[in-house]
Amino acid sequence: GKVAVLFGGTSAEREVSLMSGSAVLAALQGCGVDAHGFDPAERDLCALRDEGFERVFIALHGRGGEDGTVQGVLETLRIPYTGSGVMASALAMDKWRTKMVWAACGLPTPRYAILDAQTDFDAVAAELGMPVFVKPAHEGSSMGATKVVEPSQLRAAWELAARYDRLVLAEAFIDGAELTVPFLNDRALPVIRIDAPGGNYDYEHKYFSDETRYLCPSGLDAALEDALKRLVMQSAAVLGCRGWGRVDIMLDRDGRPWLLEMNTVPGMTGHSLVPMSAQAAGLGFGQLCIAILEGASL
Ligand code: DAL
Ligand code: MG
Repeated sequence: GKVAVLFGGTSAEREVSLMSGSAVLAALQGCGVDAHGFDPAERDLCALRDEGFERVFIALHGRGGEDGTVQGVLETLRIPYTGSGVMASALAMDKWRTKMVWAACGLPTPRYAILDAQTDFDAVAAELGMPVFVKPAHEGSSMGATKVVEPSQLRAAWELAARYDRLVLAEAFIDGAELTVPFLNDRALPVIRIDAPGGNYDYEHKYFSDETRYLCPSGLDAALEDALKRLVMQSAAVLGCRGWGRVDIMLDRDGRPWLLEMNTVPGMTGHSLVPMSAQAAGLGFGQLCIAILEGASL
């Protein structure tokens, strides 16, 4: 039957979604799927039902696509879709509440503070130490995020993040290796280690730079890689995620992992990490897209 690939949308990550979605669309078509592109920024989602689409591949990043809203519409229209359901999508889009659930379940996540106009920024700096990452709670791709190295910069970083979101988080910096681990249906895929110049894996480095190095296989020892994979499956289970996703992790200098965030619609661009990890597991981009699509459900 007909498959719609949703991409574009209206979030700050629209450009990333356009790259992800066009890659997914081409790959599905290349595998013989009757797939069509669909941009919810331009068309009403009810057209999906009226035009007889039988399944939806969601390649929307950020709010209004990755956050449970589109998932809710598709539930109402009774059209199976890829990835997490309404609750898990909404929860994972909120970095603060995600961390609360993980912490409540005994899973490791860095210390943090919520920043607002009443915050005593010096007290937060003293409590969390330097550096800290300041980030809008509901953005992806490092949008509005700043690595703060001086307490005096904390307020300006909050002001920047607050332009994106009314909920802003300051998170203690974990010194160590930046890792990301995708999961596909019931298994975790190989760990990727990210080596960005100067430790700055920001928007530019995520999508455009050729300087960032990605190590997959990660070079970590097998027991640690397995432990990380189990942690990832647990972190997804407690949030109620399904289908596919990608968990970002810091590994500290003592070899302890710290969960940063869950991405329920990870990037699928030429620079993206899930395709790289899948490739290391022997799954080409087309096969990966098919496997995600086969996980579509209501
Ligand atoms: N938010 C981007 C798309 C990612 O996590 O890959
Ligand atoms: Mg993210």
